[in-house]
Amino acid sequence: MSIHTPNIGKKVSLSTIAKMKGIEPIVMVTAYDALFAKLFDGGVEMILVGDSLNMSFMGKADTLSATMDQMIYHTQAVCNGAKSSLVVVDMPFGSYATQEQALTNATRIYQQTDAQAVKIEGGKEREHIVKALTQNSIAVLGHIGLMPQFVRSEGGYKVRGKDQADINRLVEDAKALERAGAFALVVEGVKSQAAQAVAEAVSIPTIGIGAGNGTDGQVLVWSDMFGFFEAFKPKFVKQYFEGAKYIREGLQSYRDEVKSGAFPDEAHNY
Ligand code: KIV
Repeated sequence: MSIHTPNIGKKVSLSTIAKMKGIEPIVMVTAYDALFAKLFDGGVEMILVGDSLNMSFMGKADTLSATMDQMIYHTQAVCNGAKSSLVVVDMPFGSYATQEQALTNATRIYQQTDAQAVKIEGGKEREHIVKALTQNSIAVLGHIGLMPQFVRSEGGYKVRGKDQADINRLVEDAKALERAGAFALVVEGVKSQAAQAVAEAVSIPTIGIGAGNGTDGQVLVWSDMFGFFEAFKPKFVKQYFEGAKYIREGLQSYRDEVKSGAFPDEAHNY
């Protein structure tokens, strides 16, 4: 028996997510538009409008140039499709550098979209930012470990939690975000043992990506897991569907039929 009954149209709440820790794994996936949000809606507890859209949809090399306007547009589209799953939106790089800026931008997200929460990358150093939001009734999903918005300053995507000192740092980051009122945490690109230590150190749910199975849930980027994004494939991504292959095959059939005159046929004419 699942705490969240899929596909019944009732919106998943933050308290449902909190209750799932230690009871039932939380399933989260990204979506960037209404079409896919509708397909995923109800089948997962949470949908993330990730700034990964800047790479898979915008074709950029990293997430850093995503803008507030872009995130708001995609979140409005996702919310039009997602009536049951809880929707979280990534605050883009540079939109939460100060408490005032974070509050202004997160307020804009709440006023212009139906998303239930925002996601912010960073640990201890962002505790004051997360606190400023949660104290003003904005729900925050934290994000620690490998943080894509730090890729340029860190000089690449680096797996975290490889030694005890770094595990301790991750645990401190998680505790700081819990103290600040984050309702859950994404833990990305972290050795399994470290992710498990983080999950055990906090009472809020942890959602892993490339972090093994010791977390309270999992998130994947939909265009990676369904085989549409071909620029690179991180080791942790399991591909559940060969999207790019099926699209190419479908397109080839369409092309062949148009070229041969087989399409449109009688069945597809007025
Ligand atoms: O932007 C995104 O899709 C994310 C996930 C990788 C968690 O932050």
